[in-house]
Amino acid sequence: MFVSIWYFLIFLFGFANSQTLDNFDKIAEEYEKLNQESLNWGPYRSNLYVGVRPRIPNSLLSGLLWFPAETFQGPLLSKHSCEQSHNIKKFGWTRYDPRFGGIENIIDNDSHLNLTTEFVKTDDGLNWALRVKGTTVRSDAVNSIVFYAGLQGDGKLGLASDLYEGTNNLVDGDVTLKGFMEKLNGDFTIDIIDDDMNVYPDVHTIPDDETYDPTKTHYTSLMVPEQEVWKASEIFWALVRINIQQFEDNDISPIAYSPIELLQLRNSNNFKGNFNLIQKTFVGNFQFDIIYNTEVSKNKIEREDLSNKIEDVLNIIDTKFTKKFQLSAPFNTNKFIDFAKEILSQLMGGIIYQHGDQIVDRKAVLDDVKFSHTDLSGSPEGQYELFTCVPSRPFFPRGFYWDEGFHLLPILEYDSDLTLEIVKSWFSLIDDKGWIAREQILGDESRSKVPIEFTTQNPNIANPPTLMMIFSELLDSAKKFQLEYQLNDNGMFQIDDLKNNLGDLHMEKPELMINYAKEIYPKLQTHYEWFRSTQRGNTRDFERHYPNNDEVYRWKGRSQELCLPSGIDDYPRCEADISELNIDLLSWMGVMTRSMFKIAQLLEIDEDAKLYKKRFDDIISNIEKVHWSKNKKMYCDVTVDDDDDDIFECHEGYVTIMPFIHKLIPISDTEKLTAVIESINNPDKLWSDFGIRSLSKQDSKFHKGEDYWRGHIWININYLTLEALRYYGEQDDVDSSVKELANKVYIQLRENLVNNIYDNYESTGYAWEQYNEESGAGQRTRHFLGWTSLVILMMKMPSAIL
Ligand SMILES: *[C@@H]1O[C@H](CO)[C@@H](O)[C@H](O)[C@H]1NC(C)=O
Ligand SMILES: *[C@@H]1O[C@H](CO)[C@@H](O)[C@H](O)[C@H]1NC(C)=O
Repeated sequence: MFVSIWYFLIFLFGFANSQTLDNFDKIAEEYEKLNQESLNWGPYRSNLYVGVRPRIPNSLLSGLLWFPAETFQGPLLSKHSCEQSHNIKKFGWTRYDPRFGGIENIIDNDSHLNLTTEFVKTDDGLNWALRVKGTTVRSDAVNSIVFYAGLQGDGKLGLASDLYEGTNNLVDGDVTLKGFMEKLNGDFTIDIIDDDMNVYPDVHTIPDDETYDPTKTHYTSLMVPEQEVWKASEIFWALVRINIQQFEDNDISPIAYSPIELLQLRNSNNFKGNFNLIQKTFVGNFQFDIIYNTEVSKNKIEREDLSNKIEDVLNIIDTKFTKKFQLSAPFNTNKFIDFAKEILSQLMGGIIYQHGDQIVDRKAVLDDVKFSHTDLSGSPEGQYELFTCVPSRPFFPRGFYWDEGFHLLPILEYDSDLTLEIVKSWFSLIDDKGWIAREQILGDESRSKVPIEFTTQNPNIANPPTLMMIFSELLDSAKKFQLEYQLNDNGMFQIDDLKNNLGDLHMEKPELMINYAKEIYPKLQTHYEWFRSTQRGNTRDFERHYPNNDEVYRWKGRSQELCLPSGIDDYPRCEADISELNIDLLSWMGVMTRSMFKIAQLLEIDEDAKLYKKRFDDIISNIEKVHWSKNKKMYCDVTVDDDDDDIFECHEGYVTIMPFIHKLIPISDTEKLTAVIESINNPDKLWSDFGIRSLSKQDSKFHKGEDYWRGHIWININYLTLEALRYYGEQDDVDSSVKELANKVYIQLRENLVNNIYDNYESTGYAWEQYNEESGAGQRTRHFLGWTSLVILMMKMPSAIL
């Protein structure tokens, strides 16, 4: 039997190899090219309302800013980077696919403006266009819009010709910029073209100076150091400030004149350089196009084709979505389908390309005595790049390690190649010691959004390892396809098919995935071993004897009040002490070990697979033997009493259900499964009408202190709870009493969560960081389309388990 299976396998692999190896290199190469091209340009400056750039470091940055021009408050009401405090009723992508484009909508109450931008690009990765449409609530509202494009490296960018010489750079209508940059495939043009229907404000209060004329398009260029190009808004306002200054210098009060004129860009100093600004001012509704074309492209975008192209993008998205997301009752109705499309678009619209240095303190020793905050003072390291989703465009516009695994779950269903592209980008940041900074604050623009005391990262600090979870899921699905493929296919790849299947290629051609897995595997091992060695719990000093002393863990780098590494910052814990053992971290290590096991197994590295399996079993034993409190009937953190004997520290909530939500409780353990599900289902403890509370109503720390993770509802943990209920509910060998309870809780929880997130989105225009456990109201950070987007997957999950 053994021998025949062996021969069978050799036959399979030999067969596949001889037929396809030659072809395989070509496929891999072609895939890289197609993938890179289709993702090259994008709105990858998601910290801005509208900002386009390529995934090429130090190349070209472009974006929009706008303001109501009728008021001297204009500068204060100007919009460029997304801010939590803005009077923006709603914003974001209603339809978006990073490979094709989409539509973003911004309702700016200050400008009485509904601003819509439609983004499209060409397959060859060389051209893109942005159609900017404004609809104003008042037909006489005057708004000024500035488009800018700046080069961050060697190259040229300026007006296409000397046509505008002697005009003070005032133009009627259209402008063409011409540029050259090696990295951008040489010559390119940017056309900014007005719509015929636009109306310009015919205001002339400043005598004898046409340079303020607001009926014209105003153009300026100037030299900006490459690391300052991102400060476009500050640069624009500094230039406009010169106008005011000139009047003040002559003892003339500018207030005598119309702000519509005064807030116009003027090139009074005849600057010239890499940074280009184009300002247009409109009365009422307006529309204009920005079209970027590369000279060598055979596929240039024509203005006449724009409407059709946008139409095409919307059709592609609808078709792709319908194919991938079948929502289940009661959410299989049009209003929820539209909602799901929008949320998915918002999540993918957050994808950002970050580039720059990072501040790291490699010397700081974590304070394990007083557990006061260590003052980190780091130094800049490297030039790193990261392609990632973000938790929230206004508030957290950068990569977060533990959020990312959750962000990628919905995207995995929609475009698994994109998921892998993001995972690869993260894994490329694993350093020699196996560490990845939990927050990716790369470059000055990124740092400008973070309070200075939090910008420094420390290589002893961890964060829940969610990326490993997503990677092993990716591999799992690919392997399933591979088996099917080997048994059913004739073994020939068709290169012509690649383009049409982009998005799922790693699934359909799993060799691509397996190849990458082989390459990255040693790095993942280092990453995993980094976790094991840096976060290991202390058994030696307390003469602890557990089933396996190597498999207990403590989050390093917490303070008395907060445990930031755990991701659930202020969740109640014991007095900080080196004896502490954390059940949530042990559970995450279980997830990580299980993933390593699966990866080793899929790569057929049997030795390693055996080792990981043993460690996983040890973790399961420790979860039961070290962390289960028989008294309290829950899983708890462990610390020691005055005699250094173990005692439990139990705070019922997300921490105590961690082994359950990660599916680490043995399916035969009816007592424990029942206890956990009952805790979830108890309205006096975790159950609320809007989702599972982070901390039990009966805990002494409920809603105390900062009240961040002390009661209110978080969507990531609720999603894992639903998944776990489903898992245990579907297992044949789970006791029927558990299955029935799980089914009942599952059905109600799923509906409560989706309905509440939907209702909030409808009434406030936003998805929220967390939801109030009493009222269901969204709270804290708004426009939180990070893990709150898991609502899409909840709608896709089955209506019931049994
Ligand atoms: C718009 O802003 C004004 C002033 O800030 C406020 O009174 C009004 O309620 C806002 N309208 C909407 C629809 O948000
Ligand atoms: C804003 O404009 C877009 C496109 O013109 C439209 O689809 C959307 O409904 C408008 N939104 C509001 C709130 O008026």
